[in-house]
Amino acid sequence: MKHQVVEVKNVLRSLELLENLQGRSSITPGIGLIHGPSGYGKTTTTCWLINQLGALNAIYVRCYATDTPSSFLARIMGELGADPIYPLRKSVDFIVDRMNDRQLPLFIDEVDHIVGQAKTMETIRDLYDATEQPIVLIGMEEIARRISHRKQLFNRLSEWVEFKPADLEDVHAFATELLDERIEVGECLLEHIRQRSGGEVRRILTALEKVERSAIASERHHVTLDDWGDQPLFLEFRR
Ligand SMILES: Nc1ncnc2c1ncn2[C@@H]1O[C@H](COP(=O)(O)OP(=O)(O)O)[C@@H](O)[C@H]1O
Ligand SMILES: [Mg+2]
Repeated sequence: MKHQVVEVKNVLRSLELLENLQGRSSITPGIGLIHGPSGYGKTTTTCWLINQLGALNAIYVRCYATDTPSSFLARIMGELGADPIYPLRKSVDFIVDRMNDRQLPLFIDEVDHIVGQAKTMETIRDLYDATEQPIVLIGMEEIARRISHRKQLFNRLSEWVEFKPADLEDVHAFATELLDERIEVGECLLEHIRQRSGGEVRRILTALEKVERSAIASERHHVTLDDWGDQPLFLEFRR
C-alpha cells in the first residue's frame, strides 16, 4: 500500500478552513478548530496542510497528557530552534516575535490534553492577540463543547471543520490511490468496508491493506465481496 495523503472531503474542507483564515479580513478573528473522532485523519490532514504551506512556514506542536504551560511553551520554543527562556513571559515574547516576523500560523494538535488548563489556554489566546496569525486547534469530539466554556477563546473562533466518517466515494478514493494499480476492489466490498469501519480512516486503510495482501498472495486482480466472504477486515470486539 502506498504512503500518500488522499485528498478526501475532510482534507479539502480543512484546506478551505486554512485558506479562509489566511484570507480573512481584519475584523474576522483567526482561530480555527478541527475536531472529530480518533483515527479520522486529523493529524495526517494537519501535516499535509503544513506541507502545502512549506514546512518552515508554520509551527506544529502536539500536546501531551502531562503538559503544563511551561512544557507547552518549551515545545513551541523547540520548534523555533530555541531553548525556553524564563520567566515564561519571555518565552511568550520570543514566540510572538517569531510568529510576527515570519508570519507563522500555529497548529496545536491533541488540544484535549490542555483544554482543561486555564493558563495554557489563556496563553494561546495571548499568542493570538499579539500576532493575529492563524491558530488552528485540533482535537476530539468533545473539544468544541469544552472550548465553548472558554468565552475569550471561543469568541475568536471563526472557522471550524468537524471530521465526518468517510463515505463510499472517499473509500473509493483510498482504494484507487493507495492500492497496487493491478488490484481492483469491487464496489460491494468497498461498501462493506465502509460499513464495517464506521467510516474511520485508520480502519479503512487496515482493511484495504488486508484485501491487497490477500489479492497479491492469491494472484487475483479483482476482489469482490463474494470472494472475501466473511473474513475479518480488522480486529473487532463483539459486545
Ligand atoms: N487523507 C488520508 N490519506 C491517507 N491516509 C490517511 C488519511 N487520513 C488518515 N490517514 C491514515 O489514517 C490513520 C489515522 O489518521 P490520523 O491522522 O492519525 O487520525 P487522527 O489524528 O484523527 O486520530 C493514519 O495511519 C493515517 O496515515
Ligand atoms: Mg491525531
